[in-house]
Amino acid sequence: MIQCEHISKEFGEPPQRILHDINLSIADGEFVSISGRSGSGKSTLLYIISSLDDPTYGKVIIDGQITSKMNVKEIHEFRNKHVGFIFQFHYLLSELTALENILLPPRNLGLYEEYHERALELLKKMNISHVVNKLPSQMSGGEQQRVSIARALIMDPKYLFADEPTGNLDSVNGEIVMEILKEINQQRKTTICLVTHDPDYSKMAQREIFLSDGRVVDSL
Ligand SMILES: Nc1ncnc2c1ncn2[C@@H]1O[C@H](COP(=O)(O)OP(=O)(O)O)[C@@H](O)[C@H]1O
Ligand SMILES: [Mg+2]
Repeated sequence: MIQCEHISKEFGEPPQRILHDINLSIADGEFVSISGRSGSGKSTLLYIISSLDDPTYGKVIIDGQITSKMNVKEIHEFRNKHVGFIFQFHYLLSELTALENILLPPRNLGLYEEYHERALELLKKMNISHVVNKLPSQMSGGEQQRVSIARALIMDPKYLFADEPTGNLDSVNGEIVMEILKEINQQRKTTICLVTHDPDYSKMAQREIFLSDGRVVDSL
């Protein structure tokens, strides 16, 4: 479970407040969306919720631990084992094949061989087995994004954080990505927090959180 208590975030000097006293919690197995206009603070909030960034004030508690109090080793281990990230840009390594990219997280944990079979299964599940030995530059945008989703899922994370994962895709590929997210949530009970400015995709979540100028204005 993730709890955000009185989260505020400031950037710059003099400090400019971007997020204002945000309180929310996300239960295990939930599929939550965070929506709002460009510049409303969605990405900033997601990075704080997911432990990629610290709040200026307030705290994030994940499974009973305050993320900003975890040391570097603890936070890396937590992210490697329990968290998957998907971004608008795929961030695949250009010199590695699809398979090698997907196997990066287990490789970091010394588990490359053990996860080889699962990587192939994920490629199959996402209907992209044909790109297994291709480099990112040899794939379409939709294929690249599905490879990056497979990489996010390889360790079967408890939490999946996605920042505009459909932002660079056409509507057909956007739908495919959303269907994959829904299926992971239903089948693996993965807790998903999806940031999107697209109301159609936002509605596909079980619960919608709306941000406006760094404040939660509504939660359905
Ligand atoms: N590292 C940063 N330094 C200064 N300002 C930032 C930084 N990151 C985000 N901001 C500002 O915070 C506001 C919210 O940004 P962001 O969270 O990216 O919004 P969204 O994802 O909803 O488009 C914007 O005004 C942006 O310019
Ligand atoms: Mg953003």
